[in-house]
Amino acid sequence: MRAAYHESQGGLDVLRVGELPDPEPDPGDVLIRVRATSMDRVDVYWREGSHGMKLRWPQHVGGRDIAGVVEAVGEQVETVAVGQRVVASGERTHATLALAPSELTFPLPDGISFEAGGATPTAGRSAHQALIEKAQIQSDETVLVMAAGSGVGSFGIQIARATGCRVIATAGTADKRARAMELGADLAIDHYDDDIVAAVREATDGRGVDVVLDHVGTPVFAAAVRSLAPEGRFVTCGVTAGHMGELHLGQLFVKGITLMGVGRPDNQRIAATMRGLLAMIDQGQVTPEIAAKFGLDEIAEAHRLMESSDFFGKIVLTP
Ligand SMILES: NC(=O)c1ccc[n+]([C@@H]2O[C@H](COP(=O)([O-])OP(=O)(O)OC[C@H]3O[C@@H](n4cnc5c(N)ncnc54)[C@H](OP(=O)(O)O)[C@@H]3O)[C@@H](O)[C@H]2O)c1
Repeated sequence: MRAAYHESQGGLDVLRVGELPDPEPDPGDVLIRVRATSMDRVDVYWREGSHGMKLRWPQHVGGRDIAGVVEAVGEQVETVAVGQRVVASGERTHATLALAPSELTFPLPDGISFEAGGATPTAGRSAHQALIEKAQIQSDETVLVMAAGSGVGSFGIQIARATGCRVIATAGTADKRARAMELGADLAIDHYDDDIVAAVREATDGRGVDVVLDHVGTPVFAAAVRSLAPEGRFVTCGVTAGHMGELHLGQLFVKGITLMGVGRPDNQRIAATMRGLLAMIDQGQVTPEIAAKFGLDEIAEAHRLMESSDFFGKIVLTP
């Protein structure tokens, strides 16, 4: 197979594109010809060696999302067949072929393109898990989505809107704030220059929001907690800009606030999430936001764009 990989950690110059051995499916695996996959922030962490990430293989191939066509199945697989269009959560997906466990491989509905499918699993299911399963958002609630221009945030806005929530978003540029409003946010706040707590209070008649979806971490944590209404829920699925936060325990107990993380759900729960998310996409309630598309040979450009954060939504690779 052809793959984008790196054998050491460092700058963009460690990235290589070339031939690697084809993966062999175990009995419960599906081998997929990848038509689209995507970049996750963790691919940059892996390449840099930041956030505690170590290389997982001598030739480390990034990526976890797959949309493509089934090439072969392990002997125990009965849920999908060779030639079927599928979307899956696997590993080493920045390649022309990739493996996924059959429990995490789903038929790709006809109305969903390979690019949209390949942009969905990791970011989309994290946003879905955080908002639907963990925070259990309700239709009359207000949700604050931090860093709405991210993969997670762009899904988060739409999932909250599709559930009937009012959405307040934050983003670092005027362009991203405008895009957040187009996606369904009622208000977009500058998370660098605005006073997030004051803007949230003004927009909610002083009450605060019911739920905060965060994946930024340290720089926004205090404001996120202070933006919550009584009985509010804070849910995190990432720590892009720092993993430590200072907590005012008085606010926590007086306001009855709940803090939660998405955790590491087992494959059965991930599958339930994916089915719910794919239904939302198929029904047009959620549309994966594709910021840019790159071929495998342009892997360095894809990493460069992700590092810059100068994009809204997901960066897709089409091997
Ligand atoms: N639990 C899981 O399985 C799971 C799954 C998916 C993602 N994640 C994690 O969730 C995070 C987001 O992932 P992603 O792929 O969606 O990321 P992404 O698309 O790369 O977006 C990262 C965002 O972080 C924002 N940001 C960076 N520094 C900031 C700061 N100092 N203050 C405020 N915002 C800041 C940027 O917003 P601006 O440019 O607007 O400032 C950017 O939009 C990552 O940490 C990732 O590892 C976890």
